[in-house]
Amino acid sequence: MASPTIAGPVFLPRLLACLFFFVSLTCCCDNLLLNDYDFQRCLELRNTCTSLSLSRSSFCGTIPTEIGRLTKLSFLDLSYNEFTGSIPNQIGYLTELTMLLLSDNHLSGALPYAIGNLERLSSLALANNDLSGAISSGIGKLVNLGSLNLCNNDIQGQIPSDFVAMTALRSLYMYDNSLTGTLPMDLHQLSNIAQFLFSGNSLTGTLPDEFAGLTNLQVLDLTSNSFTGKLPESLGNLSESLELVTLTSNGFTGSIPASWSNLQSVTSLYLNNNSLSGGFEILAEEGGAPYASLKYLDFADNSLSSSIPTAMGLLTNLNRLRGMRNRLSGRIPSEFGNLRDLDALCLEENTLTGGLPSELGQLSELQRMNFSNNLLTALFQPDTNFSNFNLLELEYLDLHENRISGPLFSELHQFQALLLLDLGSNSITGTIPTGIGGIPITYYLNLSHNLFTGSIPKELSQITGIVELDLSSNRLTGSIPEELQVIPPALTKKLDKYFNY
Ligand SMILES: *[C@@H]1O[C@H](CO)[C@@H](O)[C@H](O)[C@H]1NC(C)=O
Ligand SMILES: *[C@@H]1O[C@H](CO)[C@@H](O)[C@H](O)[C@H]1NC(C)=O
Ligand SMILES: *[C@@H]1O[C@H](CO)[C@@H](O)[C@H](O)[C@H]1NC(C)=O
Ligand SMILES: *[C@@H]1O[C@H](CO)[C@@H](O)[C@H](O)[C@H]1NC(C)=O
Ligand SMILES: *[C@@H]1O[C@H](CO)[C@@H](O)[C@H](O)[C@H]1NC(C)=O
Repeated sequence: MASPTIAGPVFLPRLLACLFFFVSLTCCCDNLLLNDYDFQRCLELRNTCTSLSLSRSSFCGTIPTEIGRLTKLSFLDLSYNEFTGSIPNQIGYLTELTMLLLSDNHLSGALPYAIGNLERLSSLALANNDLSGAISSGIGKLVNLGSLNLCNNDIQGQIPSDFVAMTALRSLYMYDNSLTGTLPMDLHQLSNIAQFLFSGNSLTGTLPDEFAGLTNLQVLDLTSNSFTGKLPESLGNLSESLELVTLTSNGFTGSIPASWSNLQSVTSLYLNNNSLSGGFEILAEEGGAPYASLKYLDFADNSLSSSIPTAMGLLTNLNRLRGMRNRLSGRIPSEFGNLRDLDALCLEENTLTGGLPSELGQLSELQRMNFSNNLLTALFQPDTNFSNFNLLELEYLDLHENRISGPLFSELHQFQALLLLDLGSNSITGTIPTGIGGIPITYYLNLSHNLFTGSIPKELSQITGIVELDLSSNRLTGSIPEELQVIPPALTKKLDKYFNY
């Protein structure tokens, strides 16, 4: 070899045999991690090397143009190295390649046009590099490509029209680039596509009805683009396949299409941060259990304006329900009590009215419940049997800024895991129940801006976790109990600060 600059001490003889052409391959450091098996094979095959795997080997510098001489290669893996510069055009000579894996380097420049010559490619992975420029239209020649991963680069421009000629595509990972323009017409030609991930680009326009043709589509992620217009009804036709739909942070308008209630396989539906309006026609009460598989439902930060349908209680696999900052009105449906797997119920900043249904007490997995900034008028009904309560995991209960009146129930020992209780800015009356000592690990307790009367119960000192206690702006009388003055210095401070009677 003219100038072998491979510095690593390990496996060097094998390396030389295999890398006959790699006269300028450079290693950054000396802990070469070579895949023994591949090198053994290369040794046997010598110049007819068909598989070269040098991933995670600390190579740096540019990829040598000599690579174009390894014309028998069908598998080339240079991923997880420190390669810089552009992908050499000579890569286009490796027409036997089925797998080309160059992810996780620092490669820059545009995709070589010659990549379109690699018609046998089934997998092309270029993720996590610094590639830029537009996708050249030659890419449509890769008719055997099943997986294309270009995510996390700086690919610009429009998606070329012959993109849809790659009809074997199953996985398309294009997220976190700078693509502009619209989705290609004739999208339905990509009929094998299962994963369609274009989040974090600057795509515009509406979603075409051609989505209905993608009958194998499982994952659709278009988060953080600038799509507008209505959500396509046609997506509802993908009832068998679709599992995850993420349309977060776009400019979608109109209502959630009723046809989407056919999506029986969907486990996650993220529609948050758009401009959706209307109600939940999608959960029309007749017709069995829509969304039988749904675990994550997020429609927060929209303008949905109906009441919450009781049919929401049919989504019995739901783990997380987030619908904050909409215009939801009406009562909290007691059917929420059926959602036994729910761990977060976040409906703050709506215009919900009425009280908390006692059925919520059955949500044994619930960790977070937020109804702050609504128009609620009551806590649990007076006849609630708290001994049936099962809120053993509830850590955050936030009801601040409502219109809650009436007394605070004293069965607070049913909330053993409670870390935060915020009832501030309501109209709660009566005394602070002595049962308050039953929430032992709470660190934040805010009862301020209410109409509490009487004295401060000494049982507050049983809340050993407390760091912030705000009882200000009530009608409390008497003095701070002695028991409270000896417990944590942090608390005493807060008392001084917030206690103003
Ligand atoms: C979706 O399904 C409905 C009813 O089955 C059908 O009328 C409609 O044409 C389909 N839409 C598309 C775009 O295939
Ligand atoms: C909501 O989407 C807009 C763009 O439509 C974006 O600028 C904003 O950061 C998003 N907000 C959140 C909280 O994600
Ligand atoms: C409350 O529920 C418990 C347990 O189911 C039951 O034993 C008790 O009788 C009930 N109390 C009232 C007042 O209904
Ligand atoms: C509940 O929502 C409000 C917004 O209205 C937010 O400020 C607060 O932090 C949330 N509480 C919890 C416990 O997450
Ligand atoms: C308690 O709640 C009130 C009213 O909602 C708020 O103004 C105050 O900042 C809160 N106190 C603390 C310590 O967070």
